[in-house]
Amino acid sequence: MSEGTTYPARLDGRRAIVTGAGSGIGRAIALRFAGEGARVLVADVDVAAAGRVADEIGTNGLSHQVDVAHATEMQSLVERATAEWGGLDVMVNNAGVGVAATTPDTDESDWDRLMDINLKGTFLGMKYAIPALRDSGGGCVINISSVAALVGVADRAAYSAAKGGILALTRAAAIDHIAEGVRINCICPGTVDTPWVRRITEDLPEPEVARAAMRARQPHGRLVSVDEIAAMAAYLASDEAGSIVGAAMIVDGGLTAR
Ligand SMILES: NC(=O)c1ccc[n+]([C@@H]2O[C@H](COP(=O)([O-])OP(=O)(O)OC[C@H]3O[C@@H](n4cnc5c(N)ncnc54)[C@H](O)[C@@H]3O)[C@@H](O)[C@H]2O)c1
Repeated sequence: MSEGTTYPARLDGRRAIVTGAGSGIGRAIALRFAGEGARVLVADVDVAAAGRVADEIGTNGLSHQVDVAHATEMQSLVERATAEWGGLDVMVNNAGVGVAATTPDTDESDWDRLMDINLKGTFLGMKYAIPALRDSGGGCVINISSVAALVGVADRAAYSAAKGGILALTRAAAIDHIAEGVRINCICPGTVDTPWVRRITEDLPEPEVARAAMRARQPHGRLVSVDEIAAMAAYLASDEAGSIVGAAMIVDGGLTAR
């Protein structure tokens, strides 16, 4: 969120949870939601990072430590929101990690960890949030998938499998719960300029060359910004997106149009 930017108050009074909100895309979504009037539970395994983002939000921000891969912790996360605010309107399942490897080169332990955080974490977020959304008179779930769910991306075998699973789960659950007033969608970002992407390139022998290659992969010639993903999330969370159900909203600078 740029300093001094004002947004429409489409989420006035809404109660939202954002996982992985201590950094990158999750942080931008939390700040944008708050900028549109929502109360936000900033959830992250890194509680210090979550606390900093909640402080940036101010009175409408609360921080909560959670490992999304653990059912009891995810249940407690949703219970915290309903205890604090008397209900829940929006659940954003954003927390995720990456493993860069082909299928034969992926360690079984890396596969398990990635599936636990990215796919099971999203499942658990939905498992506990959907009843709370239903009990609150309806609401929405936004899952963060990836273009890796839609096209083949080199060296991302396990990651692509998890993100494809999130897309399929989004569609299945969307059909199950729309009649209950719970709208479920996902966002498929291209390469987004976040601390994660900066970490990947820093470890390479020529970081700036790697970053230039990432920019070139995007037809619009630059990385997607976190604010562009946050804008899509705020739209999906708003009443303006009332007919968007089980959709994969692609925000990728044209990568999948090639
Ligand atoms: N950056 C990209 O190019 C890109 C593209 C497509 C999709 N995504 C997805 O967007 C999401 C956010 O990515 P980002 O780039 O902002 O990453 P990031 O590393 O900047 O932020 C991820 C956050 O998730 C938290 N987290 C990690 N494991 C967790 C766990 N087990 N429980 C709770 N929190 C946990 C981290 O502490 C961190 O704050 C991920 O799901 C990622 O797959 C990112």
